[in-house]
Amino acid sequence: MNCSDPQFIPAIRSLMEDLTKHVHEEETIDLVKLESSITPEESERLAKSFGRTKMFVPSRSHPSAPNKPPFETAVGLMTAPIDHLADLFRKWPEEALTPNPSVK
Ligand SMILES: [Fe+2]
Repeated sequence: MNCSDPQFIPAIRSLMEDLTKHVHEEETIDLVKLESSITPEESERLAKSFGRTKMFVPSRSHPSAPNKPPFETAVGLMTAPIDHLADLFRKWPEEALTPNPSVK
């Protein structure tokens, strides 16, 4: 869907509503259960491992990239460093875009 499509903003709002609920459930239920079932040391080890993994995955969507292994993995490993470098120079959308007064 192109961002100029009149259904774009309603679709984004719907997706964000679902995502917000999902994130809330993970943070208030799933992660709480996980943290209570592992040691602080294991939690720290997993957090570091997750942080390292994030370095090897793209930080942006690449719609034309393959979406199934093994090519997804190979392309992801190639695009991740470029994404992370470019992220240093990117602005948040609300800083880069002029708000559309017709969107509420
Ligand atoms: Fe999730």
